[in-house]
Amino acid sequence: MVDVVREYRIGQQRIRALDGITLGVSGGQFASVVGPSGSGKSTLLHLLGALDWPDSGSIRFDGAEIAKMTDDEQSSFRRRKVGFIFQFFNLLPTLAAWENVAVPGLLDGRALKQLKPHAVALLELVGLGNRVDHRPGELSGGQMQRIAVARALALDPPLILADEPTGNLDSATGAAIVDLLRNLAHDSATRRAVVMVTHNAEAAMAADRVVTMHDGKLQSDLLVDEAALVEDA
Ligand SMILES: Nc1ncnc2c1ncn2[C@@H]1O[C@H](COP(=O)(O)OP(=O)(O)OP(=O)(O)O)[C@@H](O)[C@H]1O
Ligand SMILES: [Mg+2]
Repeated sequence: MVDVVREYRIGQQRIRALDGITLGVSGGQFASVVGPSGSGKSTLLHLLGALDWPDSGSIRFDGAEIAKMTDDEQSSFRRRKVGFIFQFFNLLPTLAAWENVAVPGLLDGRALKQLKPHAVALLELVGLGNRVDHRPGELSGGQMQRIAVARALALDPPLILADEPTGNLDSATGAAIVDLLRNLAHDSATRRAVVMVTHNAEAAMAADRVVTMHDGKLQSDLLVDEAALVEDA
């Protein structure tokens, strides 16, 4: 992102949700984004995932300017390049765990039956190999979030965006999800970029890097060792 501005207009009121953000995230890196409520964290994540667009500034992924893509290119970018994980899991309640994981493949035009082996393998990867036929309502919060992580990986995207993925979990369960996210970034075969918004200091410090936002601006951007020194001071 270079000099990104996103302004919301409600009647006469203008809110600069993002006020000149310049930020780069590389593959293999696990970055956390922290800051007070309303500081622009979710807006930042939406723009990174092409769910929303800047009023000015540039957002590039692997050199391609997202705002200049056609509608088809943008939707294929969202589907294939980005995996989203949300605070409230956003699972489909009537589908089994493996079917939820298969949804991105379905949207990509593949047949449900063909998708099952890979969906089950992803559930095994996140430690849910023994719950593939359960529906979300039959699972714990941590298990539901594991399904969401597996779903985010369905089309093997290079970028994972998570908005408060531990916000609804107890601290031990949340820590396990953060471990999972860290492994996704540090896996040397895939070297994904993982960006996690969080209100939880412990989760933030489990990342490689902590980006702090304030009033739509970057307040600081520190590697975790540096951030620990600031916390201690
Ligand atoms: N769709 C919208 N229309 C108008 N204003 C919005 C909209 N979405 C967000 N805002 C405003 O933009 C600012 C940034 O919102 P954002 O959701 O990015 O904050 P946040 O850092 O994610 O907060 P939280 O920690 O509470 O989730 C806030 O002042 C918010 O009121
Ligand atoms: Mg938010």
